[in-house]
Amino acid sequence: MDMETLVSLCKRRGFVFQSSEIYGGINGFWDFGPVGVELKRRIKDSWWRRMVQGRDDVVGVDTSIIAHPRTWVASGHVSSFSDPMVDCKSCKKRFRADDMPTPKKGNAEGSCPECGGELTDARAFNLMFQTYVGATSDNASLAYLRPETCQSIFTQFKNVQTVSRMKVPFGIAQIGKAFRNEITPRNFIFRSREFEQMEMEFFCHADESDKWFEYWVADRREWFASIGIKPEKIRIREHSKEELAHYAKACSDVEYEMPFGWSEMEGIANRSNYDLTQHMNESGKDMNYFDDVRKEKFVPHVVETSVGVDRTALAVLCDAYREEEVAGEKRVVMGFNPVVAPVQIGVLPLSNKLKEPAKKLEMDLRKRFVSEYDDAGSIGKRYRRHDEIGTPYCVTYDFDSESDHAATVRDRDSMKQERIPLANLVSYFEDKFSKF
Ligand code: GAP
Repeated sequence: MDMETLVSLCKRRGFVFQSSEIYGGINGFWDFGPVGVELKRRIKDSWWRRMVQGRDDVVGVDTSIIAHPRTWVASGHVSSFSDPMVDCKSCKKRFRADDMPTPKKGNAEGSCPECGGELTDARAFNLMFQTYVGATSDNASLAYLRPETCQSIFTQFKNVQTVSRMKVPFGIAQIGKAFRNEITPRNFIFRSREFEQMEMEFFCHADESDKWFEYWVADRREWFASIGIKPEKIRIREHSKEELAHYAKACSDVEYEMPFGWSEMEGIANRSNYDLTQHMNESGKDMNYFDDVRKEKFVPHVVETSVGVDRTALAVLCDAYREEEVAGEKRVVMGFNPVVAPVQIGVLPLSNKLKEPAKKLEMDLRKRFVSEYDDAGSIGKRYRRHDEIGTPYCVTYDFDSESDHAATVRDRDSMKQERIPLANLVSYFEDKFSKF
């Protein structure tokens, strides 16, 4: 499958649209449609369940997108969250210097990949979006849209620790939007300018940070398998010492083999106690924690897990896509694991005359499952649509259903059909979905 095929399916079936399409689009921004929003929601629910609700040592927060600008001074983003960029002197387009096949410095040999024009020297370009808070637009009101969600976890560390009465080691998690003015957004929703992150900062004693780092690398890898990603498409890439930020002790990426190559989905990093120390110095507020078991006061070290929702959605989409030949015709199937399938059950009346009882059946299933009623077009077309949005099961209500009080359940993957009594449908599906 190439990306073009996937992008077109995503548009046709309502996963992802270009943002502001009627105005010609806006580069680096995407809108999720009715099916895409469910896919993202289920990815986020699975992460939140595993990282927060399913364990007793991580609590959640939901912090504001705009924080006090000093947050970004302390974190280092104001001074150094930048990419080197070059401009093409003839077509005036801007590129990331590290994307250039030719030498990055100077323009003697540098040529632009699109028009062949001469390039300027590389310059640092800060990736944070700026805005102004309040009625004035001057330096005093300058603020930034957050480029990552984790910094407010650090600045709220004390409040959260106090109210939750958590003892180190423990984690704070958050899901939310982040913004980066990427020079060259690309590869569909892989690199965009507005995206969502799922981040967790795990606070621990320095002595235990290596152990927790190993633990989280293994745990995060397992999560990708738990949402149905093929294990052979996932690998862990350890950063070399040269790649590490000066404060980081270790970092590993979870990578997925995208159609455009192995790509970072998530970063797991042992960030030492750099962030809390930076905020302590910038704000003057004490970030020490007193450990009453160790009888020791210290600024906790942090192991971070940071994954993009949109990138995960793209991996799930790429991984699920398959084409099959059925009776001489091409069948496109999104083979989503039921954990992330946007729709779990489709209910299809065989004829318009059966609308009423089929709709009633669907409303019953809706109480327990994510279901959808669909009476548009021939039954074959409806099956094809549900295959393409990855609905694991379709229930067809036909004329016999009126007398035998049963319906036909079609399995998306095997296409096998089974007659199930209407009264047993809920327990039938509960059983089917319970193993996920
Ligand atoms: N707090 C650490 C942090 O933000 P990062 O490697 O810059 O680390 C973490 O970002 C994750 O966020 C990435 O692995 C990726 O999944 C996602 N991400 C980062 N930039 C992105 C972008 N421009 N578009 C989509 N997702 C992005």
